Amino acid sequence: LDDPDGSAAGATLTAIRPRRPRFDLSDTPTQWVPGDPQTTQTINVLHLLLPPGERWFCDVYREALPLITDERLRADVKGFMGQEAVHARAHDGGLAYMAARGIDTSTYEARAEWLRTHVGGPRPFGLRLGPRLGRAWLNRRLAAIAAIEHYTSILGTWIVENSAGLDRAGADPQMMDLLRWHGAEEVEHRHVAFDAYQDLSGSYVTRVVAMLGVTAVMLVLWIVGSAGLVAADPTTDARFRPREFRRAVKQGRLPSLTMVIRSLPRYLARNHHPSNEPGSRELALAYLAGSPGVASSAGVASA
Ligand SMILES: [Fe+2]
Ligand SMILES: [Fe+2]
Repeated sequence: LDDPDGSAAGATLTAIRPRRPRFDLSDTPTQWVPGDPQTTQTINVLHLLLPPGERWFCDVYREALPLITDERLRADVKGFMGQEAVHARAHDGGLAYMAARGIDTSTYEARAEWLRTHVGGPRPFGLRLGPRLGRAWLNRRLAAIAAIEHYTSILGTWIVENSAGLDRAGADPQMMDLLRWHGAEEVEHRHVAFDAYQDLSGSYVTRVVAMLGVTAVMLVLWIVGSAGLVAADPTTDARFRPREFRRAVKQGRLPSLTMVIRSLPRYLARNHHPSNEPGSRELALAYLAGSPGVASSAGVASA
């Protein structure tokens, strides 16, 4: 197929639907990448960022949905919202697991929740925006989500296709299945946020500005989050070190910054569409078909 996502015109061959997998982290050790607390905590940052982030996506699309008239795009957005809601709940499980291992994230969670409701909503800092400014604010948030979804899709591709180094390191299979299920669904729905942005705004300048802003914020959040979690990890006295990050990349346990930076010009190309990204949607769907967590699921989740 020339257009494996079938999404060049906003359509998908198969409907996006939320799955409801089960992951049991009760026996997952604190250092779930054995002997590698920094890699463990660098990946654990996902449990911090994703629940508030993905719930915020759902908030924003609840605002946007009444404005979308294309039926196929509406269906995609609804499927996307269902998947992101399940992702947020799964990473809540990651937070509960961390709390049970003595890593307290409650202050961070409270701050993130405040940001989601007081800054990320339709009335940032309580401001009543008129129809014009309100629409501009919505478009900017949609552009930010499309940019974030570019990163979740390339990280999803990495965890599905290139993370054998983590298996070689003896990484916990339950945590790996959670990460790969999530990553695979990110690849599955990678076109939706972009199509929604193009449908409702499509401004190229806003897309570029949003991507540059999102890149800077994500980089800072990830470095600060990793350093904070390594410091909070009761099983190690180590501190976060860039050298350790480079070592983990060489061992295939983390994606490289080069991979991330190289993806930027692709996203910034005027004719960009996520369905042309190098990650294989077929491999992602194949992972989902064989995921132990998905196989033991309670069935298809309601959106
Ligand atoms: Fe997600
Ligand atoms: Fe996503």
